[in-house]
Order: sequence, then C-alpha cells, then structure tokens
Amino acid sequence: MVKITNLQKYFKRHHVLKGINLAIKEGETVAIIGPSGSGKSTLLRCMNLLERPSEGTIQIGDTTLEAHHIDKMSLLQVRRSTGMVFQNYNLFANKTSLENITEALITVKKIEKGEAEKIGYALLNTVGLGDKGNHYPSGLSGGQQQRVAIARALALNPKLMLFDEPTSALDPELVQEVLQVIRNIANGGLTTIIVTHELEFARDIADRIIFMDEGLIIEENNAKDFFVSPQHPRTRKFIEKFTQQSLYYI
Ligand SMILES: Nc1ncnc2c1ncn2[C@@H]1O[C@H](COP(=O)(O)OP(=O)(O)OP(=O)(O)O)[C@@H](O)[C@H]1O
Ligand SMILES: [Mg+2]
Repeated sequence: MVKITNLQKYFKRHHVLKGINLAIKEGETVAIIGPSGSGKSTLLRCMNLLERPSEGTIQIGDTTLEAHHIDKMSLLQVRRSTGMVFQNYNLFANKTSLENITEALITVKKIEKGEAEKIGYALLNTVGLGDKGNHYPSGLSGGQQQRVAIARALALNPKLMLFDEPTSALDPELVQEVLQVIRNIANGGLTTIIVTHELEFARDIADRIIFMDEGLIIEENNAKDFFVSPQHPRTRKFIEKFTQQSLYYI
C-alpha cells in the first residue's frame, strides 16, 4: 500500500530526513513516535506532498512518485488518496461543520449539493456529531472540531489516513473522544499512520510502532515487543521518559 525508499528532505542546508525506508501493508495501523524535531511531521507531510521530498521514492497505492519528477497529475492523485488530520484542526472558520466536510465533495468531486450533504451528515454521524452540522468551529469544543476535521479528511474516501498529533492541542478530558474515533477508523481497516505522544494509545491500536530520531527510523517492531523489549538505547530512553511522565504502565 505504501512504500517509501530512501526518502530525504532538506530545508535549505538542514538535512531533516536522512533516508527513510518504510513499507506499510493495506489495512495496517502504524504509529510513529520520537523526540521533537526528529522529522515525524516532515515525513507525513512528504507523504501527501505538502512538502516536496528532496530525494527518494514514495509509492502510495498505484501512484509512484520520484522526488525529482513529480508531475501535477500524480500530485493530485496522492493528495486525493490521502486524508490528513493536523494538530490544530485547520477547519474553515467561516463554514459550518457540514460545509467544512462537503466543500471538497462539491468542488473536487463535483458531487451535487444535496448528495454531498447526505454524505456529510453520514460522516458527522460516524464521528458522533450528527446534531452539529450547522455549528461553526467557534461554537464547538476542541475535541468536536477535531472530529469534524477527521470527518472532512474521510470525505474523499482516502486510501490512507495520516494523523499528526491529533490530540496534542486538546484539553485532557477531550482526548479520549478523538482517540475513540481514530480507533474506529483504524479498526475499520483503513490504512492509518499516526504520529502521537499517546504511547498507551499507540500500543493499543497500532500493529507496528516506528521510532524516529534525528531524521532516521531507529527502530520498529510490533506494538507489544516494541514497548516490552526496546532494542536501541535511544528508544529505551525515550520510552522511560514517557513512562515516568505519564505513569504509563505496560
Ligand atoms: N518548513 C520548514 N522550514 C524549515 N525547517 C523546517 C520546516 N519544517 C520543519 N523544519 C525543521 O525540520 C526538523 C524536523 O521538524 P518536524 O516538524 O518534522 O519534527 P517533529 O518530529 O514533527 O517534531 P514535533 O514532535 O515537535 O512535532 C526541525 O528541526 C524543524 O525545525
Ligand atoms: Mg511534528
């Protein structure tokens, strides 16, 4: 489903991704963890071409992108086949929840408004907000806004969902409602990659955990073994730090 080969990214002279190799099977849920600045967001952003990769190959479904020859057609294909959810929701403030979701259906997919609204309400129901279609983002809690953002990302029927720390801007009491929606998506069989600091959640939902540090994948393993027997000293240190901070029990 996803195959990344020797992905490198420079921001000017700053070498941020230093050769990422990663293969993800259809339906798999992968969690990416690692210290701040290790390149996790950049990796996700390269995957849906919000950032241009400097070197390497990214294959998503049937589309293969070579860093040096990305044509407009494959760029659009990749954008449409990936749904991305950010830390800060990024909803359109001047549109209702429903309009946030139907926007792409109407403009990109050219679906007629009434039909788009039906799909929009179905998606709002999926994220537990069937009664909030007419609300503007300012009238919703952070958790609700993030759930609208998830529904919006699902609207174009992506083959791959990318979540970049979807709960880290939320008040603690709102985290669970968003994690539950993500859990449902992952369990539903949609290929999912999530960057998260919620290690317990990562262990629960992910088939595989990937640990990044300084622009490289340092270690990867199935979720159980990853936490029980981390191999690399940097992985151990990272897990220990989180364990102490959050009284996280394995
Ligand atoms: N648009 C950009 N221009 C220049 N440098 C950037 C840009 N985006 C990211 N960087 C740099 O790339 C490095 C990796 O950043 P990235 O956001 O991918 O890290 P991260 O692992 O997601 O960190 P965090 O856990 O804090 O979100 C950082 O040093 C950052 O300053
Ligand atoms: Mg980040």
